[in-house]
Amino acid sequence: MNDPTIHWPPSDALVPRHVAIIMDGNGRWAKQRGLPRTFGHSSGARQVKDLINHCADSGVAFLTLFAFSSENWKRPAEEVSSLMSLFVLYLEKEIRAMRMEGVRLRVIGDISRFDSRLRNLIADAQRETADNKRITVTVAANYGGRWDMVEAVRRWQQAHPGQSALDLSEDDLAPYLSTAHAPDPDLLIRTGGESRISNFLLWQLAYAELYFSDVLWPDFSIQEMNKAMAWFADKDRRFGAVSDRVAS
Ligand code: IPE
Ligand code: IPE
Ligand code: MG
Repeated sequence: MNDPTIHWPPSDALVPRHVAIIMDGNGRWAKQRGLPRTFGHSSGARQVKDLINHCADSGVAFLTLFAFSSENWKRPAEEVSSLMSLFVLYLEKEIRAMRMEGVRLRVIGDISRFDSRLRNLIADAQRETADNKRITVTVAANYGGRWDMVEAVRRWQQAHPGQSALDLSEDDLAPYLSTAHAPDPDLLIRTGGESRISNFLLWQLAYAELYFSDVLWPDFSIQEMNKAMAWFADKDRRFGAVSDRVAS
């Protein structure tokens, strides 16, 4: 009742500009209920929309969601194909709402391995929401942080034929990363109890605040999100420098 996170954020709180989430724990959530893993995935997908709107209303400008990693192909074929179908369903159902609600959708990852129907839906969704300004939602699908870096070097080389990589600086490479449309994440949330990055945004997370929650993704409510944001608001972000906070 008296939980301050329900009405979070207060007007003076430090709000993360970019939140990235590793949405983990769907399979265990289903298992706990004696259901197939795919039920966990559909349950997890169902609450994404509310979370997007809540983030936008709280002042988060960029939300990046890890939906399928480059290593998730190792899962049983039925699980992979049900995750793909869920992605298709989600896009078919939500493109219109995203367009109306000011959500700009971007998809990062190697989508060349997806079937043409999914690739076309992704292209349509990105095109139709390209001018939206309320929040940018980036879905990482067949994404790996190592892939992202190697791909960035390849793309840089393509754009600079004949130039030696010995000349390459961090600032030169950054525009070729798949997330060049967004600032680096301020807050990374991983649900599901594991404290690892699992090949998510390896370069971009250099100075993110890392928040690990035991809550399984389908149970990660708006109140849980507020808890993470309140935790973030209390951080002293030094970026390698000395704190300018006044000691109290
Ligand atoms: C995260 O939930 C969703 C994806 C990786 C696609 P998991 O499916 O990894 O759920 P757990 O970790 O097995 O519980
Ligand atoms: C990370 O979760 C990937 C996504 C949430 C999409 P995993 O369940 O694949 O990660 P590991 O295998 O536990 O490291
Ligand atoms: Mg998992």
